[in-house]
Amino acid sequence: VLARLVREKLESLLDESYGTLAALLERWRGRIRAAFPDVTARRGLYESIVRGRVTALLRSGRGAEAERELLVQVDAGQGQARAGSVVLVGAGPGDPGLLTLRALRALQEADVILHDRLVSEEILDLARRDAQRIPVGKEAGHHSVPQAAINELMAQHAQAGRRVVRMKGGDPFVFGRGGEELEYLRALGIAYEVVPGITAAAACGAYAGIPLTHRDHSQSLRLVTAHCDPSGEGLDWRALASGRQTLAFYMGVARLGTVAEKLTEHGRAASTPVAIVENGTRHDQRVTIARLADLAAIAELGGVRAPALLIVGEVAALGAQLHWFGATPRLWPADVDQPAAVDEAA
Ligand SMILES: C[S@@+](CC[C@H](N)C(=O)[O-])C[C@H]1O[C@@H](n2cnc3c(N)ncnc32)[C@H](O)[C@@H]1O
Repeated sequence: VLARLVREKLESLLDESYGTLAALLERWRGRIRAAFPDVTARRGLYESIVRGRVTALLRSGRGAEAERELLVQVDAGQGQARAGSVVLVGAGPGDPGLLTLRALRALQEADVILHDRLVSEEILDLARRDAQRIPVGKEAGHHSVPQAAINELMAQHAQAGRRVVRMKGGDPFVFGRGGEELEYLRALGIAYEVVPGITAAAACGAYAGIPLTHRDHSQSLRLVTAHCDPSGEGLDWRALASGRQTLAFYMGVARLGTVAEKLTEHGRAASTPVAIVENGTRHDQRVTIARLADLAAIAELGGVRAPALLIVGEVAALGAQLHWFGATPRLWPADVDQPAAVDEAA
């Protein structure tokens, strides 16, 4: 049983692209040996192939390009410096168990990790011990490292031949500026890959027992940023207020009152169920289930702290029965006069 366990662990670390890589190396082995008669130089080339661009191209499903790149490296001879690259990795919402295998491998291969504030310590602990970790965390309102400086850091390290992991909370392409970072890398000709992560809406829904769609209640789902103009301008509130859909508001802690006001003003019933999931998937997850009409009071009295996701729609009410993770949800306003229960949940 122990042997099987160890084998399973090893298999989870082995990349699916290794089979194709092995076949490729086998095919060009003779030519490599002839071009690199010195064993140390040959090992250097294999290192560069296995850990570098050739493997990255295979992983991206670009076999023909990988083969061309291998031949370029073989023909360039032993002086060739390893080309660096950037992997944009989604770390998910916090629970390390929600990392993808691909994210884990990228972490374990990285020389440098540039990570956001929302990436948990437990996840960073899965990285190679000698990898350099650089926090570039951002909090709403105060950007500890400006985006331009993050871009430059990624480029500097990649251009020095390092494997850079740019790690973000949730999914890098959902309110994560992943697109902007790729545009920057592409303009500089730096190779990149993207590893998706579980976005907060999917994770918070699952860990709060709130299905985001449901045949009886909700036929569509919208991921919305509440980090807009303080007055709420810039969002299509009329479309957001229509029924039978679920809204997941990101970055909404400071805008709970505005969201409720705008949605009701545009026709969504004040009795629509809502749920606020704070610290979703983490040991201190707290879920508050209420109605749209309660949001202003929760903003004032509820002590809601970031990161928190606001779910609006009939499905939110299901969390009261279907919850399974962490503390029992607090039901607002029923629990509001019971500070002990609230404190316990917090
Ligand atoms: C800048 S956005 C990044 C979103 C991220 N890229 C994603 O896909 O989840 C940050 C917002 O995501 C939400 N969020 C991220 N992690 C969360 C968590 N563990 N629990 C609740 N909300 C979370 C919050 O709304 C937070 O304000």
